[in-house]
Amino acid sequence: MKKEEFKQLGYALIDWIADYRETLTNRPVMSQVTPGEIKQRFAKAPPTHPEPLEGLLHDIERDILPGITHWNHPSFFAYFPSNTELASVLADLLTAGLGTQGMSWQTSPAATELEEVVIDWLRQMLDLSVSFTGVIQDTASTATLAALLCARERSSNFSQNAKGLSGFEAPLTVYASDQAHSSIEKAALLSGFGKGNLRYIKTNNEHALDTDALREAIALDKKQGRMPCAVIATTGTTGTTALDPIQNIAAIAQQEKIWLHVDAALAGTAMILPECRWMWRGIEQADSLVLNPHKWMGVGFDFSAYYTRDPQHLIRVMSTNPSYLRTEQDGQVNNYRDWGIPLGRRFRALKLWLVLRAEGVSGLQARLRRDLENAQWLKSQIDTTPGWERLAPVPLQTICLRHTPEGFTEEELTRHNLRIVHELNQSGKAYLTPSTLKNKQSIRVSIGALGTERSHIAALWELLKEAAKR
Ligand SMILES: Cc1ncc(COP(=O)(O)O)c(C=O)c1O
Repeated sequence: MKKEEFKQLGYALIDWIADYRETLTNRPVMSQVTPGEIKQRFAKAPPTHPEPLEGLLHDIERDILPGITHWNHPSFFAYFPSNTELASVLADLLTAGLGTQGMSWQTSPAATELEEVVIDWLRQMLDLSVSFTGVIQDTASTATLAALLCARERSSNFSQNAKGLSGFEAPLTVYASDQAHSSIEKAALLSGFGKGNLRYIKTNNEHALDTDALREAIALDKKQGRMPCAVIATTGTTGTTALDPIQNIAAIAQQEKIWLHVDAALAGTAMILPECRWMWRGIEQADSLVLNPHKWMGVGFDFSAYYTRDPQHLIRVMSTNPSYLRTEQDGQVNNYRDWGIPLGRRFRALKLWLVLRAEGVSGLQARLRRDLENAQWLKSQIDTTPGWERLAPVPLQTICLRHTPEGFTEEELTRHNLRIVHELNQSGKAYLTPSTLKNKQSIRVSIGALGTERSHIAALWELLKEAAKR
């Protein structure tokens, strides 16, 4: 592509993105296409010769947009939010424009040093002490895998690093609540613990980990000759944003000398609000933690922040030192390729830098507070409307509810509530995730898209009530 064409198309694309964001509400939130419908719009073979690109925006509208589910739509209430502030869009463009690869300090000193700066800014925003050092990972799944690899090696005195899975005789065990995210199971499997050595600990009425049950599980494993290795606590579970009692879990972890990793993928963002920090009281005792600014903070996917009290564990587990990667600055600088799984690294720090400059911490705080208030508003509607049931506490921005017409069996309730979600999603007016919570069918409303105001929540509530009548 020539410079002039790049400029012309680039300006037009920026205009298109700005207009797209402004007119999002005119589009169905969830893509309405059927499997294969998008693929068939494209040629089976690649273009042999260059094609003119003047029609690109038209092609995007015609062939791509129908297959887009609009995560930044104000009526997106599914999963967890995955916001991308416009400042983050620009940062991604800059990252691509610079085309840097930040595997070592020398391969782009700015990529490493800006990462050091923003990850420390974020530490301060979360009010974590200086005993935590951070690094950007792509996703929470990767960060949790890194944590379990570090835990495994610390427990086995780095013997598995040298000898692989045969390096330690007693099976190592991992603990997490029965509400833990699926990435924990994946990480336990990938890091070689084996599914049989992952213990799901039961949760209490508020869906938080039961620490008595954790103690019992650890005691039983020890009695049976296994070696407890790591516990993963969640601040803000995916199902209901339940809060595991970090302080109590940390006390057990310390006593048993096991690694405590805290998964605060969504809820970590809320910790920039002083009034929310009680939710992870005890966090200072964690060995590592992860939060995803690419969820609720507005930093576009992907950007996950991993903090640890001792980055040497990462380095001991992840570093390789072939001759072609050595540089004169080794030993004086951070080479982040040694702090994570991939060798190559995108310049992700630009995204957080630009979002913080554009919004300021106060701007982010105001938006989070708006979302928390909106969640409380919906909670109060459910609590005061006969025929509706709230299935979990609402400490953050997710509400789990269901419609409970009189006389319905559990099976009928499931079908009825699934139909409500299906109808809303198909209507394109809102997008929700159905989920089951301890055998009850739940409609899960997750608030937090950038443009979601009270009016959108009120409209959702009306839609739910209408759909429930049918
Ligand atoms: C609590 C929790 N942990 C981990 C993850 C995985 O996040 P990622 O997609 O960054 O791997 C999620 C995703 O929603 C989550 O809710």
